Amino acid sequence: MSEMIARRSVVRGVGKSMPARILTNAEMETMLETSDEWIVQRTGIRQRHIAGAGETTSTLGLAAARAALANAKMQPADIDLVIVATATPDNTFPATAVEIQHGLGISHGFAFDMQAVCSGFVYAVATADMYLKAGQARRALVIGAETFSRILDWEDRTTCVLFGDGAGAVVLEAVVTPADAGDDAPGIIVSSLRSDGAHKDKLFVDGGPSTTQTVGHLRMQGREVFKHAVAMITDVIDDVLAKAGVTVDDIDWFVPHQANVRIVEGAAKKLGIPLEKVVVTVDRHGNTSAASVPLALEHAVTAGMIKKGDLVLLEAMGGGFTWGATLIRW
Ligand code: UT7
Repeated sequence: MSEMIARRSVVRGVGKSMPARILTNAEMETMLETSDEWIVQRTGIRQRHIAGAGETTSTLGLAAARAALANAKMQPADIDLVIVATATPDNTFPATAVEIQHGLGISHGFAFDMQAVCSGFVYAVATADMYLKAGQARRALVIGAETFSRILDWEDRTTCVLFGDGAGAVVLEAVVTPADAGDDAPGIIVSSLRSDGAHKDKLFVDGGPSTTQTVGHLRMQGREVFKHAVAMITDVIDDVLAKAGVTVDDIDWFVPHQANVRIVEGAAKKLGIPLEKVVVTVDRHGNTSAASVPLALEHAVTAGMIKKGDLVLLEAMGGGFTWGATLIRW
């Protein structure tokens, strides 16, 4: 009888790209009735990056993809699946992922966008994992890329101080692993995804091709989102821990969506994860929606925090509402 085998999606590389232009809280004070003190106390954000002329979601995503490929010591030709998580595509269509695929100089395989707003990267990682495990692709670029500065109402201080632009990416490779290898073998262990459209009006964009024929602006009832965030985050995390048969003490690094440091600390406290294991980068780039988890991940890997063999927990929550978590053995 032949040995039972399965495929695991192993992370081979990480990369990022940020616009050069930095907008500090101090500069925001000159634009609106706000203060560095309010923004830092309520959110932990100190600055955000803003895309300049010629910079778009696809140019940032392409640069992040190239950085992740270099980190993985791979070539564009090695990739046969590109998924871009974004709520701010270059155009209504074609998909930004197809533009990035073309920018990489490849025309084999397939590419598509994933729309789950701030949860987009976790959704995209979970989706790529399914294609890789099923043998439908061998190496995937999963990119979170956003230019939220282009959909903000710059006169609304309750939203415009919170968001920023940027892109992060990972390379995943399907690796044949004995089916009974257990959770010590490297790769994605399990994901949990959720959504509930009843919460649409708490966080949405008031335009679109089929309604207003305009792009629209982001609208958010921040306090309402905040009220639901911790419960939703802990719900999917409890689910992945139970499915994997591990406890919260087994987690080496918690890499959450970077929207607000108070939400991150609230979730960590409720779960019982010590703050030394929590990756926080929201101070330097604000809420970059689908780019935030790969940006935090890239930071933790390149800073030498996440090491081979570590158990890494990703989490995100955002518009829809959508929310999700992924557990990865590094
Ligand atoms: O990516 C996933 C989705 N997004 C989130 O996770 C965001 C979730 N929400 C939050 O992070 C928080 O609710 C916010 C940071 C948006 C707001 O913090 P808050 O502690 O919930 O404040 P608040 O909305 O209750 O506002 C408190 C006060 C208000 O004044 P009054 O009504 O108490 O007089 C606001 O008008 O702060 C005022 N305020 C500001 N003041 C200075 C709102 N925005 C600003 C500002 N600067 N930029």
